[in-house]
Amino acid sequence: MNGVRISGLGSAKPENLVSNTDLSKFVDTSDEWITTRTGIKSRYISSGETAVELAVDAAKVAISDANVNPSEIDLIIVATISPDQMMPSTACCVQSIIGAKNATAFDISAACSGFVFASKIAVDAIRIGSAKKALVIGAEILSKSIDWTDRNTCVLFGDGAGAVIYEKSDVNKIINIYTGSDGTLGQVLTLDHTPINNCLVTTDLSTSYLKMDGREVYKFATSVVPLCINKVLEGTDYSLSSIKKFILHQANERILNSVAKKLGIDDKLLFKNLFEYGNTSAASIPIALDDAKSSLCKGDIIILAGFGGGLTWGSILFEW
Ligand code: UT7
Repeated sequence: MNGVRISGLGSAKPENLVSNTDLSKFVDTSDEWITTRTGIKSRYISSGETAVELAVDAAKVAISDANVNPSEIDLIIVATISPDQMMPSTACCVQSIIGAKNATAFDISAACSGFVFASKIAVDAIRIGSAKKALVIGAEILSKSIDWTDRNTCVLFGDGAGAVIYEKSDVNKIINIYTGSDGTLGQVLTLDHTPINNCLVTTDLSTSYLKMDGREVYKFATSVVPLCINKVLEGTDYSLSSIKKFILHQANERILNSVAKKLGIDDKLLFKNLFEYGNTSAASIPIALDDAKSSLCKGDIIILAGFGGGLTWGSILFEW
């Protein structure tokens, strides 16, 4: 089995930063409510930037950081639940623009866990020798799927993209990846149904938006993230006390703090950038990793963990 390491990171965001106060001008909310219930102070919202554009911008930074030639990349996976279109995939569009002509490219859908799921596919492919250099991107323009009159959801999400290059390595740095799903709980977090509308059936095709039972998702998140963290450590030489930084899905600061409390870890070990970005779904973990990199030291043992629609969850244990 081949070793795998992270060799490059990048991220990109839309130009427009929308503050809580900006939102309170058109929806019945306040900076005080959003800050105390979520920790979010602002989010980047597309004023025209597409998922492909952000994915390409993040990918270019990661490629340059890894010092690889796009033609060396043999796998591109984009995790997204807000692609610009279903076909061609976001990954194929990225492939074309960056000139990664030797890559197999496709998208996956696992909501906010999408980056972890895509990373698992890429890392497994490198381990078994079917790829050498993989570009994994989380890219979302969720703002187009939000009901901007629904204060329960519109204050939470933001747009962005994050990219990671995984490559074959003599020394293995990706220690373990854990993933899981429970489709029976899927209805607590949903987005866009495509009803059957064909030569036999006529259906109302009115737009549908992201819908969420916030309390149920909160309960799920605060139980599944500690589980993800414990599971990814199982069977390895590492324990909670080995971890230098926990870079978790940036959905809600209260969720992050509750995870720290449940695990009995110092909340200073949690990386947080949700104040600025809000919840960027599949882009959240790779953007956070890119933002955190200046505070990481060579050899640090890091855990990434996410949860989201599906329901889905997953974690990555790696050495920086
Ligand atoms: O990537 C995964 C995606 N989702 C998540 O991670 C979300 C997980 N859930 C949460 O983070 C929290 O449940 C929320 C932040 C969504 C909500 O916080 P909460 O403490 O669970 O609030 P709540 O839903 O119980 O609502 C409390 C009150 C309600 O008013 P009443 O019924 O008590 O009068 C809401 O209508 O807060 C009201 N409310 C708001 N008020 C001002 C809900 N949203 C807002 C808002 N501004 N934006």
